[in-house]
Amino acid sequence: MKSPERSPAPDVEADGSGAVRIDELRVLHGQFVDFMLDYKFAIDEITTKFNILREDLHNSNEYNPIEHINSRLKSPESVLEKVQRKKYPMNLASIRENVLDIAGVRVVCSFISDIAAVRDMIAGQEDVTVLDERDYITHRKPNGYQSLHLIVSIPVFRVDRTVRVPVEIQIRTIAMDFWASLEHKIYYKYRGQVPPNLLAELTRAAEAANQLDEKMESLHRLVDHNGHRAPISERQGGLDFSALYENLLAED
Ligand code: GTP
Ligand code: MG
Repeated sequence: MKSPERSPAPDVEADGSGAVRIDELRVLHGQFVDFMLDYKFAIDEITTKFNILREDLHNSNEYNPIEHINSRLKSPESVLEKVQRKKYPMNLASIRENVLDIAGVRVVCSFISDIAAVRDMIAGQEDVTVLDERDYITHRKPNGYQSLHLIVSIPVFRVDRTVRVPVEIQIRTIAMDFWASLEHKIYYKYRGQVPPNLLAELTRAAEAANQLDEKMESLHRLVDHNGHRAPISERQGGLDFSALYENLLAED
């Protein structure tokens, strides 16, 4: 089938004065909108992948490690601001190569061990290529930030071409996410100049979030995903959880 006619990308050479004519501006704008659409579609693709995994697990009565999924498309202003701040060349090829977080998807899990499970499920798909991976869980940031970051690329099938589009995927627990969103708000409120006492409090809050995650993980390990009693070898912490098991089993 013949692909529909697309308006050719005209040469938008400036006239030497550096001025851009209004019709040229319109073409540039159209090209930029089309470029951003690649990222919107990439978010749709990745979100669908996670939703399929969730539904598939649910259907086969298997444990679902995904609590919820959010996504955001970077605004054109933020994209251009980043290009200027990082001094990347101002053209679409350079933006595609250098700005890897235009499409962002965040997956929030209940437990620390869910993070690796989600990572493996997405990274193992044959059309997903992992370009970069940063483990801020094993290597927590000095301020306490924890999350697993993947930059992946996936094919996006447009009417007249296939494009590989990068997507930043952040995977973290509810507690890590709670902390990160508060820290983000505080950071913006103080425009990066957070008072030292507040920074210290944030670091303590990150520690508390981490302790909660570890406690929830150990509780989670004690009870397997169907609510049955876990092997004795997996029980830790010196606490007697037998009453909890009995209650869970009774609720079944
Ligand atoms: P950017 O240039 O900002 O994209 O950072 P980067 O390319 O060095 O990547 P990095 O992995 O450090 O951060 C990517 C994204 O993770 C950020 O845009 C934030 O969404 C999130 N992030 C990283 N560090 C922090 C942090 O300390 N606090 C919070 N709240 N979010 C963070
Ligand atoms: Mg970023």
